[in-house]
Amino acid sequence: MPETYFITGAQGCIGSWIVKALVERGDTPVVFDRSEDKRRLNAIIGPGDLDRVRFIAGDVTDVSAVNSALEASAARRIIHLAGLQVPSCRTDPVAGAFVNVVGTLNVFESARTIGVERVVYASSAAVFGAGDAEIPLAETAKSEPTTHYGVFKRTNEGNARVYFLDHGLSSVGLRPLTVYGVNRDVGLTSDPTRAMKAAVLELPFHIRFSGATDFQYVADTAAAFLACVDHAPDGAHVFNLHGETVEVARIARLINENSPAGHELVTYGGPPIPIAPALDNTAIKRVIGDLPSTPIEPGVRETMQRFTALRDAGRLDTSDIESELSGAACAAPMRTSSRAMPITIPTNMANQFHSRFSRRSWDTKLADALKKSAVKCRIYKSEIASFLIRG
Ligand SMILES: NC(=O)c1ccc[n+]([C@@H]2O[C@H](COP(=O)([O-])OP(=O)(O)OC[C@H]3O[C@@H](n4cnc5c(N)ncnc54)[C@H](O)[C@@H]3O)[C@@H](O)[C@H]2O)c1
Repeated sequence: MPETYFITGAQGCIGSWIVKALVERGDTPVVFDRSEDKRRLNAIIGPGDLDRVRFIAGDVTDVSAVNSALEASAARRIIHLAGLQVPSCRTDPVAGAFVNVVGTLNVFESARTIGVERVVYASSAAVFGAGDAEIPLAETAKSEPTTHYGVFKRTNEGNARVYFLDHGLSSVGLRPLTVYGVNRDVGLTSDPTRAMKAAVLELPFHIRFSGATDFQYVADTAAAFLACVDHAPDGAHVFNLHGETVEVARIARLINENSPAGHELVTYGGPPIPIAPALDNTAIKRVIGDLPSTPIEPGVRETMQRFTALRDAGRLDTSDIESELSGAACAAPMRTSSRAMPITIPTNMANQFHSRFSRRSWDTKLADALKKSAVKCRIYKSEIASFLIRG
């Protein structure tokens, strides 16, 4: 019997993969998000399947909007992902608290009043501070978040526990660390994924951190949310998620090895992520059972293959690597071949194009503009502008 799921923040990265998994197995996702931009869903779900998704635009900070949307959905299982990431919470902690804490309370409050089976919500490994690299942290390890974001996530775990104590509302909080894969494009830990996209476009990219972190392939993260919302026992549970603890140096090497340019486009450096790099996931495996776990090499390969397919279809969204795009435009040559000679686009010209044209139509408009400026050029089918004068 197909089931309906109410998913907040499902226009985002993890949500898009949860929606994909649900439509593929014949269930109905109801997407509740303040954004109506379907570009992430479009990147991984075919138009036929997307027709089966229901959309309700709304903000989790508005309790009556959450309430009426949840009621209209008739869903009994909720996955709550809507939230602001670390940089936004750092810049504006008050707005961060409204969305991440009050928004989560609104979801629980609606779930309690309407009466749902279970809420699974995104907590984060950011509830931990920097820890000992050698010891995978269990849920019982000391929680000393170093960011407002981590404090907000920890607060949500406490509120979820109280909803079970006061009202018997069952929930699971999941703590991912560094999720990677197509659609991961916000926050510092999105750098490895953005580096994969840049490499597919043959652009240089610098990952702004070093050391090791716990990488989880996004399809596995989505599977963990679904397993919990379908099967978790009653109670207020909190589980770590674990993929593979990997040095950023290895990720950069893997990306470079899989890059069409075949050389060192991706570099890394900077302080390590201030969160312990290895999470112990014994608890979720004990309670929920075995979960998919994609090793890092096939995970990186699959992500780059997906980016390549999107690039070749002219559907690769490049708005998250704009600085690399404009940098490359100024610093051509970008691509050489025996039949083509690279040209350098003057900085002022590139900047002018960059600021004048909307992100999506950037390459097409640029082609027109270059034609008008009497420069012979060829724009590659992908969204990246590669400027070449034919010999
Ligand atoms: N991606 C990771 O590595 C990671 C790690 C740990 C925890 N998490 C948590 O998992 C959740 C999902 O992460 P993601 O990477 O998919 O994030 P994302 O930034 O890609 O997506 C977040 C979504 O929430 C929506 N949203 C933001 N504010 C909203 C509001 N007020 N009302 C309704 N919708 C709103 C956004 O429009 C967006 O679609 C977040 O809560 C995040 O904190 C993610």
